[in-house]
Amino acid sequence: MSLEKIYLNDVVLGKSNKWSPYFSAYQKHLEKYLNRDWVTVLEIGVQGGGSLELWKKYFGKNSTIIGLDIFKHELVDKVEQLGGIDFFIGRQQNTEDLDKILDKYPEIDIVIDDGSHISYQQKITFDYLFPKIKDTATYIVEDLHTSFWPDHNGHTEKGNEEHSFFNYALSLTKEMQRLKNKKLWNFHMTRLSDKQLEQDFYNDAIERPNYWQSNLDSISFYESMIAFEKKPRSMILNMMIGHMR
Ligand SMILES: C[S@@+](CC[C@H](N)C(=O)[O-])C[C@H]1O[C@@H](n2cnc3c(N)ncnc32)[C@H](O)[C@@H]1O
Repeated sequence: MSLEKIYLNDVVLGKSNKWSPYFSAYQKHLEKYLNRDWVTVLEIGVQGGGSLELWKKYFGKNSTIIGLDIFKHELVDKVEQLGGIDFFIGRQQNTEDLDKILDKYPEIDIVIDDGSHISYQQKITFDYLFPKIKDTATYIVEDLHTSFWPDHNGHTEKGNEEHSFFNYALSLTKEMQRLKNKKLWNFHMTRLSDKQLEQDFYNDAIERPNYWQSNLDSISFYESMIAFEKKPRSMILNMMIGHMR
């Protein structure tokens, strides 16, 4: 089932506009959820409701599609008639508004942030929601060209690219690395067969993995879009086979 075809042919109740490269990226990250018994999607930034309709038609009846926006467009009422859609009025940077959603839907599989496009708000939302959504969830942020627009208020609160959400995501690509810690590398090279390995790994002497090293599986950069895949990461092992001379 092509997401792009659904968008172009089957979204008839709401209105939307999306950049063409998004569809293949979305499909790559979200296709796996089609096989699940149930999928819960939170979209931040709903506008004319076309994307809520897209997600409902893509994921089907075994899905809940939640929308969050600062206002409710009249077309959203029409889209809600499809069923399985729940709309909240609120601000993505207000954690109390996010809590109302989390209280009702504690098991969110997918977050799509297409809301304010303001970097510091994208960051507040990401930092707050990412640890609270499912352990194996996908978090996507759209329209990240705004991270590069000096004249756009989506840039940052300080008007500086250094503080953009795009740069924050780049910094997490470094945060999530474990073997940059050479102590860990040496430890695994010398202690691989030791039965105490796991216990020692969590010993402070070796250094505990940080949150991102334990929970962030991958970060994928696309044209104007970033997709974060969440997964509990087990202990890292250097898996040797055969003999090396
Ligand atoms: C680009 S539109 C969303 C388009 C929609 N996702 C689609 O693909 O058709 C952005 C929406 O974000 C909403 N928005 C702006 N600031 C927001 C905020 N702080 N919190 C939540 N939504 C916000 C706007 O009201 C607008 O409806």
